[in-house]
Amino acid sequence: MLDSSEKRKHPMSEQITEAEYPQHPTAGWIPLAYHTALLDDEVRCQFFEQSLAQVAKPDWVVLDLGGGTGILSSFAARHCKKVFAIEQDPRTANALRRMVKENQLENKITVIEQDASLFVPPEPVHGVVCEMMHVGLLKEPQVPVMNAVHNTLKKNQPGKPYTVFPTLGLSSVTLLQYDFTRHGYKARFPHYLSAVGQQKYMTNLSAPVAYWEADFQDYVNPKLQAKVAGSVLQDGTLNALCMNTTAVFFKNPKLPIKEETLLWNLYGFIYPLEREIQVKRGSEFQVEISYVAGESPDRVNLRVYAQGSTLKNLD
Ligand SMILES: C[S@@+](CC[C@H](N)C(=O)[O-])C[C@H]1O[C@@H](n2cnc3c(N)ncnc32)[C@H](O)[C@@H]1O
Repeated sequence: MLDSSEKRKHPMSEQITEAEYPQHPTAGWIPLAYHTALLDDEVRCQFFEQSLAQVAKPDWVVLDLGGGTGILSSFAARHCKKVFAIEQDPRTANALRRMVKENQLENKITVIEQDASLFVPPEPVHGVVCEMMHVGLLKEPQVPVMNAVHNTLKKNQPGKPYTVFPTLGLSSVTLLQYDFTRHGYKARFPHYLSAVGQQKYMTNLSAPVAYWEADFQDYVNPKLQAKVAGSVLQDGTLNALCMNTTAVFFKNPKLPIKEETLLWNLYGFIYPLEREIQVKRGSEFQVEISYVAGESPDRVNLRVYAQGSTLKNLD
């Protein structure tokens, strides 16, 4: 028999388990082994590398909230004077300290093992990198952590501006006809789109309908409640919704989207609907969506109003 402390150990993190993390609103657990997927995501890494290259200055002090392996800190270190990489997970923080040393970046990157929402910088900050993003701004604590850091910086360096990377998180929903059958077995459950190949199961019945523009330069209300409308693009069987989020970086946040805007599309999330209905091209629909940023994607409430029917998402 395992005693309770052993039971709590996760194979990939010896000290903190996922089960413990959701109890804290600013905690998002990413196993160390998963970070390879983050490093191998070319678009994601380019997004941050180019964003920092475009605007960071040699005299800048930068915070990297949720330092992970330190990849984003290393991008910042190429252009800036100093980086504080704040990582909460003890095992990841150990690996981060070692990798900073192996890359001879100790003179630029200081690793702080702490909840980033509680960190008080010892000097004025010019840039804040925060990649605690998952689709819908769910699962990971981008919103609560950034809100806490805004509060700290407002108190610590009143009136002194700083740039947040990324600028925005834009979330949308798309009506779908989705094939849930795999190997002759129908498997309907809410899930991430794990690979680009999964697109083959999807027929888009609408364009993406934007429901949330979260501006990370400012306080973001974590309680999302939206009702949006669109029209059906083609006849089909409506049985699911896809949620998508795009991270946006503007060189100048005051300008509208243009060529120099950098975009990174996160993996989507499929929400099966409780039942299917036929929808007609040109018909109007509405989607009501509510949840709290940082919570599990399973805690999202969706209602679709289409062809005189109301459909909820499956639990
Ligand atoms: C998606 S990973 C990004 C890691 C790295 N910045 C990168 O882009 O490759 C998010 C990281 O934030 C850390 N994290 C989550 N919540 C945190 C918090 N409240 N304070 C500090 N780190 C946190 C996780 O342990 C994880 O390493």
